[in-house]
Amino acid sequence: ASTTEVDVSAIQPGQAIKAVFRKQPLFVKRLTAEEIAAAKKDDGASMRDPQTLADRTKEGHEDVLVTMGVCTHLGCVPLGAAEGENKGEFGGYFCPCHGSHYDVAGRIRKGPAPLNLQVPEYSFTSDTVIRVG
Ligand code: FES
Repeated sequence: ASTTEVDVSAIQPGQAIKAVFRKQPLFVKRLTAEEIAAAKKDDGASMRDPQTLADRTKEGHEDVLVTMGVCTHLGCVPLGAAEGENKGEFGGYFCPCHGSHYDVAGRIRKGPAPLNLQVPEYSFTSDTVIRVG
């Protein structure tokens, strides 16, 4: 299918899931209140690809982060979406191929990747379900 639906209510705050969108890995993460606060605090930090948490989430759903699971360096699948995986120095995702660290909002903070993890086109079809694509 060209679209992917995910029930985000099945994801606990602080957890992420891996799905598939157009044959590529998709990460859907629910942020805890602490992660939201940390991401907002960093909105003004110096970044390679400056975006705020609000730029990367939907209004009223700032706890739901939807990104491709594809490192923007050379396309490896970052770690951090599964329980116990290395989330890197900024608590989000870590790409082990060449050491790119993404923060809780999927923004590149350290390492060779040039851009934040891509946020695909998606919308909420109900309070708890997203449709990607
Ligand atoms: Fe991720 Fe190189 S592919 S750091």
